[in-house]
Amino acid sequence: MSNALYITTPIYYVNAEPHLGHAYTTIVCDVFARFGRLTGKDVRFQTGTDEHGQKIMQAAEKENITPKEFADKISGKFQATWPNLAITNDQFIRTTNPEHVKVVQDVLQKVYDRGDIYLAKYGGQYCVGCERFLTEHEIVDGKCPDHGTEPTWIEEENYFFKMSKYQDALRDHIQNKPDFIRPERYKNEVLSFLSEPLEDLCISRPKSRLSWGIELPFDDRFVTYVWFDALINYVTGLGGMEGALMPRYWEATQHFIAKDILKPHGIYWPTMLMAAGLPLYDHLNVHGYWNIGESKMSKTLGNVVAALDLAKVYGMDAFRYFLMREMSFGLDASFSEDLLVKRYNSDLANDLGNLFSRALSMLHRYRNGVVPAFLPSRQDHLDTRFMVQMAAQKYLDGMAELSFHKALAAVWELVSEGNKYVVKNQPWELAKDEAKARDLDDVMYNLVQILASVVVMISPVMPQVADKMTAQLGMEPLKPGMFTGLESIFDLVGEGVQTKKPEPLFPRVDTAEVKAKAAKKDAEAKDKAKKKKAKKQVVVPEGMISIDQFTQMKLKLGKILEAEPVPKTDKLMKMKIDLGEDEPRQIIGGFAEHYTPEDMVGQQVVVVANLMPAKLRGLASNGMVLACVSDDRVRIINPMEEMAPGSIIR
Ligand code: ME8
Ligand code: MG
Repeated sequence: MSNALYITTPIYYVNAEPHLGHAYTTIVCDVFARFGRLTGKDVRFQTGTDEHGQKIMQAAEKENITPKEFADKISGKFQATWPNLAITNDQFIRTTNPEHVKVVQDVLQKVYDRGDIYLAKYGGQYCVGCERFLTEHEIVDGKCPDHGTEPTWIEEENYFFKMSKYQDALRDHIQNKPDFIRPERYKNEVLSFLSEPLEDLCISRPKSRLSWGIELPFDDRFVTYVWFDALINYVTGLGGMEGALMPRYWEATQHFIAKDILKPHGIYWPTMLMAAGLPLYDHLNVHGYWNIGESKMSKTLGNVVAALDLAKVYGMDAFRYFLMREMSFGLDASFSEDLLVKRYNSDLANDLGNLFSRALSMLHRYRNGVVPAFLPSRQDHLDTRFMVQMAAQKYLDGMAELSFHKALAAVWELVSEGNKYVVKNQPWELAKDEAKARDLDDVMYNLVQILASVVVMISPVMPQVADKMTAQLGMEPLKPGMFTGLESIFDLVGEGVQTKKPEPLFPRVDTAEVKAKAAKKDAEAKDKAKKKKAKKQVVVPEGMISIDQFTQMKLKLGKILEAEPVPKTDKLMKMKIDLGEDEPRQIIGGFAEHYTPEDMVGQQVVVVANLMPAKLRGLASNGMVLACVSDDRVRIINPMEEMAPGSIIR
């Protein structure tokens, strides 16, 4: 069996800033990747951003910047966030990267050549939030239940992928490999989708409706549907269909997602792979939603983003620990600062922090911090080793079935056993009696070994704390492949090793202080908002406009394709102007006395693109061409160099 492990997060849309939900999936993948490395796997781990589609274009338009500028900005925020959460991805994919564009076009061409893509007319209810057509019974009370918005009826000619052709093959695959999609509830959900006839998948968008996407290699009037584009990122990450890393990693793929995107990953993606002649991924791992308190995250987006700040307050390891311990993978969980503080104080500061500082302090007090010799044959040593190995086995089982909370619970049982071990053996009593020196050696030795095993097991979740503990215990630095079985998890710190004086791992958090701080921050934010509002209300001086008013005007660069005087008028010229849109716009302007049509064709012009359409002499005019007017001279305004039609002017 191959030793490889390929771990992927979804690539996140750049229409929203990184928030708790994104952080959770990415941390889960990081924990799984670190655990993989620790247990000797050949790991590749990737994440990235999903940058095409209508959603992104609309978000960019709102800010009056190009989709690419918008995508650069938000993708940059994702890239800047992950190091702060100790994410160890090997690769960050952006769907606007030329490498990805090429892979998408290669896959499309291959599927097209194999006859699984066809052109047809189609009408359906489209949800921009989901970026897909909804089926009849996905619509509840006329709305998309996930986004609470009414879908739009769209009818147009498009390319379709013959998804239906692979319905039976997919059902067979899922039935033959019961943990292909896990946990089981999500497998059942996909099977229930498959119990109804599968429709073919619309995989193109006409450029007239959407230009922000990857052009179809076989028809340049269309761009690729954003999901068909996005899913392929998983292959791009390995260099494409023929990529050098494909043979090594592809069949060891572990996708991680939340339940919101089960259908694209559980149905579109495997059928796409079948059509492209590629093997299927190994597992699709699906988790539930984080809610903020009782409310759905999407409704409280402010809180969700703010939740990431708690990683700074309590330390990123504590934040990672909380997320991994609190959610049982597959089910929903609830996030609150109170819960986080509780776990911080009880599990971290109290249980683990105490055992650690207590054991190390005693070692310093009684043995100058040097790990004593032990008698391997003593029952106490054998019992302790057995206890640690039992915990490690539970931990490994938990990790294998993605029950991270169970894996951590097993470690904390061991921590609690460690605390009991101290109480039972009362090292402070043994220390009083010279005759018990040998016993004290053993007890101290065993305590150090318990702690060292704990360090190894928590290291995928709390890498920084693990490093601190490693250094203080005088252990060898943790290494990939060091945890290969139950034999490798005990006797990790040898006799004679000099340890350091313990430093607190988790300073106790004063909840009252945190609350006061939060209240202060809140008040400040409110104050700021108030001031901002007040600022907004500043009266714009007579005869001036505010920057907001100015940016409401959308100015774009156009290129005149056709021009002809409007018959029976002296002044008006009818123009066809390319604004980088699918069809040129017709604009009527007063240029006929100043330019001949020949002068005008080919010129670049500045167009007010969001001017309300008007009719001049019965002709539709969709915009206005700006010109410089002085006395009776009128001259068109031009950029100094040729620029792409549709470029934004600001
Ligand atoms: O769907 N709880 O991107 P997206 C837990 N671009 N996880 C959550 C969450 C929550 N409340 N909210 C979001 C997309 N997530 C597509 C994916 S993949 C080829 C394309 C996490 O930005 C979770 O992983 O909407 C979820 O699946 C993902 O963010 C959706 O991110
Ligand atoms: Mg989403």
